[in-house]
Amino acid sequence: MENSRSISILFFVHTIVLSIVSINCKDNNNLVTNQAALFVFGDSLFDAGNNNYIDTFSRFKSNVWPYGQTTFKSPTGRISDGRLIPDFIAEYAWLPLILPNLQPNNGNNQFTFGVNFASGGAGALVETFPGMVINLGAQLNNFKNIANSLRFELGDAEAKKIISRAVYLFHIGGNDYVYPILFANSSIFQSTTKEKFSDFVFGNITAVIEEVYKVGGRKFGFLNIGAYDCAPASLIIDRAKIGSCFKPITDLINLHNKKLPNVLKLLERDLSGFKYALHDYHTSLSERINNPLKYGFKEGKKACCGSGALRE
Ligand SMILES: *[C@@H]1O[C@H](CO)[C@@H](O)[C@H](O)[C@H]1NC(C)=O
Ligand SMILES: *[C@@H]1O[C@H](CO)[C@@H](O)[C@H](O)[C@H]1NC(C)=O
Repeated sequence: MENSRSISILFFVHTIVLSIVSINCKDNNNLVTNQAALFVFGDSLFDAGNNNYIDTFSRFKSNVWPYGQTTFKSPTGRISDGRLIPDFIAEYAWLPLILPNLQPNNGNNQFTFGVNFASGGAGALVETFPGMVINLGAQLNNFKNIANSLRFELGDAEAKKIISRAVYLFHIGGNDYVYPILFANSSIFQSTTKEKFSDFVFGNITAVIEEVYKVGGRKFGFLNIGAYDCAPASLIIDRAKIGSCFKPITDLINLHNKKLPNVLKLLERDLSGFKYALHDYHTSLSERINNPLKYGFKEGKKACCGSGALRE
């Protein structure tokens, strides 16, 4: 087939890091054939606007300027000035931008291209920002509703084809570790060790992956957790040492990222036909924080528009 491209996890413009198994092709008339859909789960890194449609605090919504200023020229609900990783992947795979699940009137079979379920602030645990976000379990329920609509609209065989060919992209867990340390001492966090706490996070992530697999999902893409311990808001916590990463979060993120590859290997072993790609987002993000110029950025450590010491 001519012009064959893989759906790839395109993390930053011009940087194709790794390929997922699914393929979107163009035939000789330049029509996309064998279309594979993209279903997106996760937190603020991936939320394309779902939080605008839930009853939550304004700080969980990105419906104000300067969000959206570079690409869309107005806020879209993305927690970014421009496009998000799933937007680049969709473009690269000749898909339209994948719409937020909660955006009204997203009918017209748009969901045959996939749906974005992500929610800024979300975690795998229900205790993370409770009542303020769409947690991973709720995102799963929303996915199951979409799968039912696909069956209803297109019939079982066609729905099954879309679901099994689709790519399921996940970035989740960072908020589970940041929330209990920076925002609240949830009882589940206090009553256990860091090791056991990360087991809870993984237990819940694994349960959701297994459910998506049961519905028919086979191709998965994961990002590990970025250096949120070194994000502007974390760099100012220690007032005496502004600019140093916040160690209690560092430990939890490192623990999570160390376990993730093994968890995925076990899933691959136990679930027949389960395929996955894992991108080391922690490294690619840290690289950009520490060497912004090399990647076309002017600044890696300060936020763009706030008023604090690091404009956080
Ligand atoms: C949580 O508890 C720990 C130790 O008990 C304390 O150091 C920390 O400041 C508390 N964090 C919050 C956000 O209350
Ligand atoms: C999921 O998280 C809850 C806490 O929210 C925990 O009690 C439960 O054990 C976790 N589930 C698994 C399978 O680990």
